[in-house]
Amino acid sequence: MIQLKSEKDIEGIRISGKLLAELFEEVGPQIEAGMSTLDVDSLCHDFMKRHHATGPCKGYMGYPNVTCISVNDMVIHGIPSKHEILKDGDIVSIDICLEKNGYISDSTHTYEIGKVSDDVHQLNEVTHKCLYLGIEAAGKQHARIQDIGAAVSGYARKFGYGVVRDYCGHGVGLDIHEEPEVPNYVSLANPNPRLRPGMVIAIEPMINMGTYKVKTLSDGWGVKTLDGKPACHWEHTIAITDSGLEILTEL
Ligand code: MF3
Ligand code: CO
Repeated sequence: MIQLKSEKDIEGIRISGKLLAELFEEVGPQIEAGMSTLDVDSLCHDFMKRHHATGPCKGYMGYPNVTCISVNDMVIHGIPSKHEILKDGDIVSIDICLEKNGYISDSTHTYEIGKVSDDVHQLNEVTHKCLYLGIEAAGKQHARIQDIGAAVSGYARKFGYGVVRDYCGHGVGLDIHEEPEVPNYVSLANPNPRLRPGMVIAIEPMINMGTYKVKTLSDGWGVKTLDGKPACHWEHTIAITDSGLEILTEL
């Protein structure tokens, strides 16, 4: 069941989302070669503590950290590690759920470390554009959930990229993962509810340079591309209100 949010709920998620945007604004510029992915997680956790917020990923089905940090061919759910050192030319996606006063927001940025190759930079730009095309589709009158995936996959396919199918966006706000699922592709087999006021969803294109196929690592969390080529991931939490669409995780 899709849990529609009240004005009060949306205000709570708005406050949470703004704080998460501020976290990215503070931590983003500090990410550089030589840091471990666990160092980055610590910076994020620190920000949360200073702002009386928590990271609900930590403890979610036993997940150990407040962020998922996915480097190069890791698509999502990379577990931060002190042994994983960022280096020039890497791309690193930081996926964070933040909870403030019981309200959860969810957002992902993919950062480029130093100078990345032109084809990797293009993948990141295209994935970022896919996010905004998905958001734009969701904001149209009478939009349905699959309009998002149509916009995302339509654009990514022009570049020959693989659109991840095994993981989707999702409702969010009171829990980390709520209904509906928000796929980045179109399928007649999937539900296609109308977007309506009170819905809060995370739109999160995961785009691979090569095949769309992925595999899960033996740690039970990390998800990598099957062909070892790089992947990018961008995500915002958005709300549909009576006055239209609002991006909650952007300043
Ligand atoms: N932000 C992630 C998502 O959208 C949450 C992952 S749950 C975790 O799916 F436990 F892996 F962190
Ligand atoms: Co998400």
